[in-house]
Amino acid sequence: MVEFNLPKNSRVQPGKVYKAPAGAKRVRSFKIYRWNADDGKNPQTDTFELDLDACGPMVLDALIKIKNEVDPTLTFRRSCREGICGSCAMTIDGSNTLACLKPIEDCKGDIAISPLPHMPVVKDLVADLSGAYAQLRSIEPWLQSDTPPPPDGERLQSKDERALLDGMWECILCFCCTTSCPSYWWNGDRYLGPAVLLAAYRFIVDSRDERTGERLDALEDPFKLYRCHTIMNCTQTCPKGLNPGKAIAQIKTLMMERQV
Ligand code: SF4
Ligand code: SF4
Ligand code: FES
Repeated sequence: MVEFNLPKNSRVQPGKVYKAPAGAKRVRSFKIYRWNADDGKNPQTDTFELDLDACGPMVLDALIKIKNEVDPTLTFRRSCREGICGSCAMTIDGSNTLACLKPIEDCKGDIAISPLPHMPVVKDLVADLSGAYAQLRSIEPWLQSDTPPPPDGERLQSKDERALLDGMWECILCFCCTTSCPSYWWNGDRYLGPAVLLAAYRFIVDSRDERTGERLDALEDPFKLYRCHTIMNCTQTCPKGLNPGKAIAQIKTLMMERQV
């Protein structure tokens, strides 16, 4: 397991090994981080051998099979299994991604699975994202306008205005990007991180929103925005193929333009 992928409270020991059923022909090992605040033990890595001939194709299928058939105490989040809800984000085979979109066949060798890195752990693969959610609330991610809507109730946009939102509305707030960002690891209490800054930019450029100046003012801070050093881990890891690093650069450009 890659050291930097371990959560903050890790001193991970080798744990239990659950062997594949007798006669299994296509066996893969899943090495899964386990930690339970209630049992007082150190974290450990349990090994689950599965027969891929009796398992669905995605890493989430393997986790569900383990929970249903091997160890019902294994804890992880999931809901849609379609890459839409963002809840199955975790570190798989060295990268932050969505378990439901990650094919088992794309992983090399034994498959290491741990919670999103540098976040407190609730249990097993469940990271505590409450700090990131509070940061999201702080940028007020909803349309704000003093102008009343037209009588028919819709605020219209041109095609070009609407196109500015492409690459941002698709964000599912999985926080794979934020938890891959070294600047967020070191300054996550004050730096907003790529997911929240992408959400901020989405409202800054929305033609229907009338708080652009106030939104930029709120980001004018040595930590909230400017801790981004364009390392681009965020963009590399996004399971939806979005580019939060570019959105951050565009916010910085807007900041510069209003100073000249
Ligand atoms: S930008 Fe991508 S990685 Fe970041 S929260 Fe949105 S969907 Fe997840
Ligand atoms: S580009 Fe910025 S936000 Fe993305 S990983 Fe690098 S420092 Fe973090
Ligand atoms: S279960 Fe919803 S994104 Fe994976």
